Amino acid sequence: MRDNVLQKDFIEYYDNKKTVFEEHLGNISKKGLPNVPNTLWESMTYSLMAGGKRIRPVLTMTVGEVFGLREEEVLPLATAVEMIHTASLIHDDMPCMDNDTLRRGKPTNHVVYGEAMALLAGDALFLYAIEQAIRNLTAIGNLDKSNIMEAAKTLLEAAGPSGICSGQAMDMHEANNSFFSPWKIAYYKTATLIKAAVVSPAQLAGASSDDIKALTSYASHLGVAFQMVDDILDVIGEKNSLGKNPGKDEAQGKNTFIAVYGLEEAVKLARLHSQKSIGALSKIDKDTKYLASFAIYLESRTY
Ligand code: IPE
Ligand code: IPE
Ligand code: MG
Ligand code: MG
Ligand code: MG
Repeated sequence: MRDNVLQKDFIEYYDNKKTVFEEHLGNISKKGLPNVPNTLWESMTYSLMAGGKRIRPVLTMTVGEVFGLREEEVLPLATAVEMIHTASLIHDDMPCMDNDTLRRGKPTNHVVYGEAMALLAGDALFLYAIEQAIRNLTAIGNLDKSNIMEAAKTLLEAAGPSGICSGQAMDMHEANNSFFSPWKIAYYKTATLIKAAVVSPAQLAGASSDDIKALTSYASHLGVAFQMVDDILDVIGEKNSLGKNPGKDEAQGKNTFIAVYGLEEAVKLARLHSQKSIGALSKIDKDTKYLASFAIYLESRTY
């Protein structure tokens, strides 16, 4: 397959986009918001600026570039995606959920700010994500309003009951209650946001429905493969590189791909879905080489 290789300059491409994104996020964090209590803003920006791979916003920027969006047009969406993701991590780590104390190499939000502030920081980030996207995209002036609404709707869907909330609810069931398969859990808790990261910039750019369909397929496979690797790394990954405590899934009886298929088969499935995601790109008549590289890169990640 033509695009089935990691482009030589992919890491450089990724790092450049990541740097632009983090500068943008840093400016938002520094600027603050009027009338927001310091502790709430600090708690929000603590997790936001704690690091992380920034896979989702870089994906958003990459798709934006493929579909002809300018940097200032895509950054509000990339920011929204990373804020939603970070909010979901803050809540995911809370004692009532996965009860984790380490995230992105730092103490988790509730460990530093307490449970009440962690809950509120998550809520605030979920909602501010969409608020700032709609406000900043509308202010640009030349973007189609209905495209802005489509993109915002996609982000909202991913964060709500058709996305992360359902996936996380299914995830809270223990392994011996196998009613919710890891496929379903992974699709809702992880792939829906990755799908939004990929599809929302295309919607903003007014992409054709065929292209949106192909991107949806690409991102769904990519998202499921991403969660497979996350489950794999929980078994074979190392605390220092992961920046979180491994070995939690089995200890908490999670219904992961490992629990159902075992390590070896999970590795094969991650490869298969990564390949399927690349396959979906062949329907798009644009230069999608870096999107293909993303799939290859994410499949072999160690953190
Ligand atoms: C972890 O996501 C949570 C999942 C959805 C699997 P990432 O592995 O992207 O976490 P960060 O953003 O790099 O910290
Ligand atoms: C988290 O899945 C998914 C979301 C935050 C929506 P996990 O619980 O497996 O993520 P980690 O392993 O804690 O990063
Ligand atoms: Mg979890
Ligand atoms: Mg977790
Ligand atoms: Mg995990």
